[in-house]
Amino acid sequence: KETKDQLVIDAGQKHFGATVCKSCGMIYAASSPEDGLQHAQYHHRFLEGIKYTGWKKERVVAEFWDGKIVLVLPHDPSYAIKKVEDVQELVDSELGFQQVVPRCPNKTKTFLFISDEKRVVGCLIAEPITQAFRVLSEPTGPESPTSGECHRAWQCSDVPVPAVCGISRIWVFRLKRRKRIARRLVDTLRNRFMFGCFLSTDEIAFSDPTPDGKLFATKYCNT
Ligand code: ACO
Ligand code: ZN
Repeated sequence: KETKDQLVIDAGQKHFGATVCKSCGMIYAASSPEDGLQHAQYHHRFLEGIKYTGWKKERVVAEFWDGKIVLVLPHDPSYAIKKVEDVQELVDSELGFQQVVPRCPNKTKTFLFISDEKRVVGCLIAEPITQAFRVLSEPTGPESPTSGECHRAWQCSDVPVPAVCGISRIWVFRLKRRKRIARRLVDTLRNRFMFGCFLSTDEIAFSDPTPDGKLFATKYCNT
């Protein structure tokens, strides 16, 4: 009986003491030493990962009032490639993706949104593709009652449609979301992916979208 009471109190305190770090965005209980340690580790790693010191040779492809977009290509200097790898590692761990080797590493284009505070706050990784499969409307139907458990179990059509550009990753820093950063990254991609043409939304495809990714993609492609 005692343990049960204790659990309830702990849970309450944890909720009550939840803090959001204004730099790294982690939500943790300031009152818990364990959480504090975990936060300190994450905080350091995250801020190192997204720190952008500015490069001698940088390919600025768009400029805005609150930042700029830099394009990194496979044969760029190693400092640029290293930054892309570090950011991708943070993104993949947040998304729970395993390290996946790109199919055509020498054709990958990475767009980084750099904020005025000199941080990478958005990242889009794109690769050439030839076909995609449309996501069919959800829910998957009453015959599959477990569909709610797996948030990525969208049903896809098995009829391929031609496509040109696959978005393998899109990510925006938690504290900078809903400021149209993802939208601006995709706009820039459409303009820059193939020389001399602006890709239509039919020509781009999002690979294995998360719920956030799907909400964004639906909105983006309809407007
Ligand atoms: N819920 C509902 N609508 C949304 C959401 C959401 N979470 N995110 C975007 N939208 C819609 C809105 O209509 C929004 O316009 P509004 O703010 O004027 O209403 C519109 O999309 C444009 O949104 P942006 O501000 O451009 O999107 P944002 O910069 O916040 O980035 C993203 C969206 C990248 C999905 C972000 O939420 C994120 O990084 N999430 C975590 C990582 C993730 O899940 N990435 C997708 C993985 S799938 C893949 O990589 C292929
Ligand atoms: Zn922090």
